[in-house]
Amino acid sequence: MPVLRSFFIALSHNRVLRRFSEHSMVGKRLSSRFIAGMEIDDALRVAEEVNKQGISVTLDSLGESVTSEAEAKAAADVYHKLLDAIAARKLNANISMKLTQMGLNLSRPLAESIAESVVQHAGKTGSFVRIDMEDSSLTQVTMDIVEQLHAKPALREAVGIVIQAYLFRSQKDIEELIANGIRVRLCKGAYQEPAELAFPRKVDVDASYIKLANMLLESSEYHGLATHDDAMVAAAKNYAKEHGIERNHFEFQMLYGIRRDLQRKLVEEGYNVRVYVPFGNEWYPYFMRRLAERPANVLFLAKNFFRF
Ligand code: FDA
Repeated sequence: MPVLRSFFIALSHNRVLRRFSEHSMVGKRLSSRFIAGMEIDDALRVAEEVNKQGISVTLDSLGESVTSEAEAKAAADVYHKLLDAIAARKLNANISMKLTQMGLNLSRPLAESIAESVVQHAGKTGSFVRIDMEDSSLTQVTMDIVEQLHAKPALREAVGIVIQAYLFRSQKDIEELIANGIRVRLCKGAYQEPAELAFPRKVDVDASYIKLANMLLESSEYHGLATHDDAMVAAAKNYAKEHGIERNHFEFQMLYGIRRDLQRKLVEEGYNVRVYVPFGNEWYPYFMRRLAERPANVLFLAKNFFRF
């Protein structure tokens, strides 16, 4: 399995395949399993449908590693439009964005100022910005920027971060974030990382996830536990029960199109659930990371493709 995972993550960086896939009808059709659609209206429509099931949403305008300031600003414009639409339609939704989409690989001040304007907008409309976590070369700078934004009183309610359980450094990062009162989404981690920085074995990633999730559950902030793994969900539920932690003190988060059965079950049991809804033309790297997590998805997609 790790070989297939590396294969799909390597494919996620392949520019030729990316250009071909994102422009082909076949590619769009395959990606629709995990992506809400190409336009803002597709995302808003899906958010409304998901909300009707008692599930909240975080909207992700797909894109990463932009190559010009104009592209970064255009990406930010989409988020500004989303925040206005969320408020106008009274959706139970917030947004998730990546700092490399805001130009971090071009210039840190550019990414900082764009991120700040989006977080400010979210603060004014009563929404929230989750800064996604990318590969480990960006962990420290992402921590620094989120902490910087959170230190501004007008922004502190409107920004949070993601921490990846596979990284060795994450326990220390979580301690620091809890001490600063910053909201965290905990996930296992979706990138290919070297063995010097991250646990290579699933069993160790899972143990780390449970330890970090317990730390978050104990803290006073409202955090998100992002996973589709029954064992992680069961561990969090048990820990909360044993320690008298209310069900509405935290939320489970899952990706659009994955484990809808588990999403529904958790809602029925009275847990808060949020679904991450990605949309837009630049779906290829996101899609490949989903295949890397579960190569069996390739068979699943192939079977469904011929049933359309
Ligand atoms: P794991 O991969 O161990 O899978 C457990 C089980 O879940 C599988 O056996 C299968 O049943 C199901 N499953 C998992 N992935 C599936 C898939 N793709 N298709 C179908 N079934 C699947 N990562 C990151 O590095 N930075 C980030 O900012 C985020 N953000 C984020 C937000 C949200 C809301 C979620 C749910 C996830 C992320 N991730 C992420 C991705 C995360 O790091 C991780 O790669 C995936 O969630 C898969 O890990 P699981 O915890 O689901 O467990």
